[in-house]
Amino acid sequence: MESILVSGGAGYIGSHTVRTLAEQGYRPIVLDSLVTGHRQSVSLDVPFYHGDIADSDLVRKIVEIEQVSAVIHFAARSLVGESVEKPDLYFEENTAKTNRFVSALLQSGVKRLIFSSTAATYGIPDEVPIPESAPTNPINPYGLSKLMIEQSFAWLEKAYGLKWIALRYFNAAGAALDGSLGEDHIPETHLIPLVLKTALGQREAISVFGTDYSTPDGTCLRDYIHVLDLANAHILALEGLATGVGSGVYNVGTGSGYSVKEVIETARFVTGRPIPVLESPRRPGDPDKLVAKVEKIQTLLGWTPEHSSIEQILQSAWAWHLKHPNGYL
Ligand code: UFG
Repeated sequence: MESILVSGGAGYIGSHTVRTLAEQGYRPIVLDSLVTGHRQSVSLDVPFYHGDIADSDLVRKIVEIEQVSAVIHFAARSLVGESVEKPDLYFEENTAKTNRFVSALLQSGVKRLIFSSTAATYGIPDEVPIPESAPTNPINPYGLSKLMIEQSFAWLEKAYGLKWIALRYFNAAGAALDGSLGEDHIPETHLIPLVLKTALGQREAISVFGTDYSTPDGTCLRDYIHVLDLANAHILALEGLATGVGSGVYNVGTGSGYSVKEVIETARFVTGRPIPVLESPRRPGDPDKLVAKVEKIQTLLGWTPEHSSIEQILQSAWAWHLKHPNGYL
């Protein structure tokens, strides 16, 4: 059984991937600082190391003790607004610490790595759907912190033979289908959890940031991808690297965009509850449309989304919110 080290395995996408790895016959090992992750989101059967990715001694020890053969690297800060206020924090926590982490892995002989990247590497796209070959001009430090890592990998590959795939996620959403794992960020800034907290009555209304965009209903379009489909993309990427697929960047999205108003309307249908809306000014830095071109991951990794209809995303997220109205607390 192959042992896969998952950094940030107690986070939102990490915890779903850890469970999916175990279901598919892998042995996941978690390294998480628990700064933003939740210990309760990882089964007690999974070896768990509480620590920092920049602790090279710990990383080397884990690789040796657990016989790690490959790594999925999620651990990162991921709040766009916070990254604008504290860019140095993002360049340290995301970029610099990843460099130390990958150095320790390479020293230990681990050369296969899947990296959690983001559509924020593109910035404001000229072309939608966005192909992987589109220019990368991030408009916030979060996107830049991830882009710098992607770029560093190409040099680590040349120098040391690192084999890597960076998955550029569009909008990760949804939850385990039985509502047992889900999204719990503090503070919460993402649309779908905030809409469902409004349906639960925890918030008075959902603010719609901008109704004058050049989209069919005037609100922003996003490509929502179910967290379980995202988890599966990581496993196919691991397997792809093992069987000769080249290193590189891949979009992970569905290729279809939904507007903020469509998400809210579907949430009203799925929850059967009223969801009051507060039309609000645009949020700075929001591109009007972010939709992935998805041929590359479909063709080269054989990935297709299975749970990413907007209804299934909202149904699973609603199951999570109903079971865990206060998150993992
Ligand atoms: N939105 C609202 N009201 C809210 C929250 C969000 O109208 O209360 C809107 C946003 O303006 C945006 C859409 O809903 O149009 C989706 O917003 P999210 O905050 O859920 O997600 P983003 O598209 O901003 O963020 C995602 C990822 C980030 C990534 C970013 C790249 O979650 O990690 O895409 O632009 F950096």
